[in-house]
Amino acid sequence: MPLVPMKQILDEAKKGGYGVGAYNVNNMEQIQAIMQAARETQSPLIIQASKGALEYTSFTYLKHLMMAAAEENPDLPIALHLDHGPDLETVKKAIDIGFTSVMIDGSLDYSKKTDSGSHPARTFEDNIRVTKEVVDYAHACGVTVEGELGTLGGIEDDTHAESVHLTDPNEVEEFMAKTGADALAVAIGTSHGAYKFKEAPVLALDLVSEIHKRVPELALVMHGSSSVPQELVDRVNKYGGQMKKTMGVPMESIQEAIRCGVAKVNIDTDGRLVLTGVIRQVFTEKPSEFDPRKYLGPARKALAEFYALKMQQLGTAGHAKDYAPLTLEDMKKVYGDK
Ligand code: G3H
Ligand code: 13P
Ligand code: ZN
Repeated sequence: MPLVPMKQILDEAKKGGYGVGAYNVNNMEQIQAIMQAARETQSPLIIQASKGALEYTSFTYLKHLMMAAAEENPDLPIALHLDHGPDLETVKKAIDIGFTSVMIDGSLDYSKKTDSGSHPARTFEDNIRVTKEVVDYAHACGVTVEGELGTLGGIEDDTHAESVHLTDPNEVEEFMAKTGADALAVAIGTSHGAYKFKEAPVLALDLVSEIHKRVPELALVMHGSSSVPQELVDRVNKYGGQMKKTMGVPMESIQEAIRCGVAKVNIDTDGRLVLTGVIRQVFTEKPSEFDPRKYLGPARKALAEFYALKMQQLGTAGHAKDYAPLTLEDMKKVYGDK
């Protein structure tokens, strides 16, 4: 089955009242683990790669790994999504190698960095301008577009903003009318990375409900959705890691966000914690081991089990065969008719 436009996967999730995890990947083991989890739970899935991931793997390697994933799993609807696309140039490269969805993170200006090393926020008007440029290009190729309004926090990756602004529901209708994007990342108090909260968070779910009420057809996206389970942090630390005390987004809050209108749930950090913990455990328990298969293999297995649980908890499980997948050619006609 060819890769599926993300818009279809999210529209179906909205109809069915469930969430779809968008899992970040940087290597073969992560892709294989996600595919195994989706196969076992019969889940539609979104695999996403950041610009950093594409620089790490190279665009060509990622393309072929994803072609292998689709070839081995012809019955699963899979969307391939560019996470935090910084500019039109990166978007074009991703679409060229077969991405069926792109995010343009127009909330931040990735071409600039402040003294503190973070990216300044774009104005609302500038965000509309760069997002619209991407929508025009992507929709002509049948590719889905996720925009962003508001800024998330984050301290571990290249996506962090100078300051955090929650999404203003008053801006959403104008942004969507002027850009025509398919999905919207909303800032509701989450942040990227492992160090999100010191105590149980209160997310601005009222914003999600309000935006959903005003633009019901819009697929809402929750970034920074790792739960950072204590047992994963404990395993990293038990085997020589030095992670500080932290809290992520509890699964109950994510489930509540889905009930309020979130369709796409972005998860990266939790997967990193699973891989790191298991690899550290193997290195500690078997210090003479040097065959990469002996530590990457168990890490991949643990990751597949972990993601299968996420797919159950988000409600994605069991929905792989609910619909006949669309192609980018189908979507070109849908967008062309608008
Ligand atoms: O939102 C950011 C993702 O966790 C990707 O992180 O830029 O380190 O690949 P990265
Ligand atoms: P986490 O760091 O919480 O996994 O968030 C990932 C994300 O939002 C990717 O876009
Ligand atoms: Zn993100």
